[in-house]
Amino acid sequence: MTGFDTLLPRPLEVRPAPGECRWPAPVSVERDTSLPAEGYRLEITPERVAMRVADDAGEVWAHQTLRQLIGPDAFRAASIHSGQLTLPCGTIIDQPRFAWRGCLLDVARNFRPKADVLRFIELLAAHKLNVLHLHLTDDQGWRIEVPRFPKLTEIGAWRRESMVGRHDGPERDGRPHGGFYTGDDLREIVAYAAERAITVVPEIDVPGHSRAAIAAYPELGAHPDRRLEVWTSWGVSTDLLAPEESTVDFYRAVFDEVLSIFPSDVIGIGGDEVPGATDRHAWFVERIIEYLHERGRRALGWDEILDPGRPLPGPTVIGSWRGEEAGVRAAIAGHDVVMCPEQYVYLDHRQSDHPDEPIPVGFLHTLEHVYGYEPLPPGLLESARHHVLGAQAQVWTEHLDSARRVDYAAFPRLCAFAEAAWSQGPRDYPKFAARLRAHHLPRLDALGVEYRPLDGPLPWQTRPGVPGRPRS
Ligand code: ACM
Repeated sequence: MTGFDTLLPRPLEVRPAPGECRWPAPVSVERDTSLPAEGYRLEITPERVAMRVADDAGEVWAHQTLRQLIGPDAFRAASIHSGQLTLPCGTIIDQPRFAWRGCLLDVARNFRPKADVLRFIELLAAHKLNVLHLHLTDDQGWRIEVPRFPKLTEIGAWRRESMVGRHDGPERDGRPHGGFYTGDDLREIVAYAAERAITVVPEIDVPGHSRAAIAAYPELGAHPDRRLEVWTSWGVSTDLLAPEESTVDFYRAVFDEVLSIFPSDVIGIGGDEVPGATDRHAWFVERIIEYLHERGRRALGWDEILDPGRPLPGPTVIGSWRGEEAGVRAAIAGHDVVMCPEQYVYLDHRQSDHPDEPIPVGFLHTLEHVYGYEPLPPGLLESARHHVLGAQAQVWTEHLDSARRVDYAAFPRLCAFAEAAWSQGPRDYPKFAARLRAHHLPRLDALGVEYRPLDGPLPWQTRPGVPGRPRS
């Protein structure tokens, strides 16, 4: 039996009506510009389903809601049902709480084949998430082809071997790893996402997290005559881009390629974790912000870019990841902010304290903890709240080397995050958990998602003996 109380994320308002609608039934879609952005109204009567939608996104979300009402089999890749289905009658009036409901996917540490990225986009859409932040470059790999600089992918997309788990020792797996996307692969990803109301925000990380680029073009680094290899460790490399005009020029050309592929208004430039950062590194970041601004785009930088305390040369979105305070300060200073604090929404972090939890790194983020995340921090003045565009979950992939591992880390915590980002009003965890267990996990099963069961990993989801590095 399906019903309005099975929906996830929870809609704004439901008005049940008597009767049932035999499905399949005629579906009509009408634009209604009086509705708020991404909003929709779904009316189900015994004869038909009528959607009124604000825009393309509203139409996508209305269809996702209808899909949930049809039942778990609507999430299979092909129809297997020959029997009669029924929908409850009534009206759903819905709109998102936040305009930015994001998820970062790190394709740099462990490359994800294009098919995995497309599948991940489909899973975001099923949860009414609307931003895929694609982390394309890092110390351990460069994943976007730039025809002008072929060595970025000929050299920078491949590493000799990888650390397994997290430790300080020299042990590696002895297995080469790599891969990259062509411009057309990325255009396909962007188009596939756009059909699902999702914007792909690319990230090229500067001036740290750049060792793969320096391995390809040593003149980008501080020691042009030193040959580095693409990093085989996890952590933060101390090899930085040289903050020189020639390096800025190189990256201007890289961003030209990025802008030709990604129509997003917001373009990620990283700026996080720059060991030994100097004023010259701040200067470097400012030149990139300026370059994007001149081309009609906005930079998205991690909160470290505010540390120098210098005014930024263009409107810049701040990703508040080291905590909530940076986001509060940025919003009060007039910057738009995406809240993604590692204390709440880092989905690579461990899900329990149990010894079976695979490769336990980072803080403890249980499902309940993620569900309770509030993107508007209490210290934020009313007058600055409009600067919080929304929230973003982060899936870093040092320890997630397959789609199965990503599924395990992301789900069902991403379902909890989706509700925190979409739904208004108080959150009731026991009710959420009951809805998830009875109605939403069957949808994930139908989608073929290998989520973490609520009571712990299945035997093949454990990684006995692989060390992690928990924090508390
Ligand atoms: C980050 O987690 N370094 C943004």
